[in-house]
Amino acid sequence: MKINYPTSWYEQYEIARSDDGLKKALEHSAFEELLAGFACHGDSLDIGTATGRYMRVATELGFTAFGIDNSIHAVSATREYISHLGIPTERVQLMDGADMDFENERFRLVTCMMSTISHSYDYFAI
Ligand SMILES: C[S@@+](CC[C@H](N)C(=O)[O-])C[C@H]1O[C@@H](n2cnc3c(N)ncnc32)[C@H](O)[C@@H]1O
Repeated sequence: MKINYPTSWYEQYEIARSDDGLKKALEHSAFEELLAGFACHGDSLDIGTATGRYMRVATELGFTAFGIDNSIHAVSATREYISHLGIPTERVQLMDGADMDFENERFRLVTCMMSTISHSYDYFAI
């Protein structure tokens, strides 16, 4: 199942303070807990990056962050948000998480946050 969010969805998602805001905060806190003590360096990949939130989080932690999304609206939104932090915009690519074009063991950290995997028509491929 491919869900196509319009550009406006990405703008709203970035500023959401309601249900999504609470979920984002809880997930972020669990993520930080999970990574406590993990050496944060090397390349990271965020699958279904949407607005590049976890590319930005990973950058702050010390990773060289990359991201993919299969929506052109998401890639555009991410490019805008990461450019403000000086992250090269080509680090986000239009790509299907079920058919990725990276060599094995390329990434030290792979994230797929906020139920992104539930959007997939093929969970096992991701
Ligand atoms: C709920 S949003 C993701 C939120 C984001 N991970 C975060 O935590 O801020 C789901 C995103 O996953 C993308 N997506 C869904 N299926 C995908 C797939 N197979 N490959 C890549 N991106 C996918 C959608 O285009 C959408 O931008």
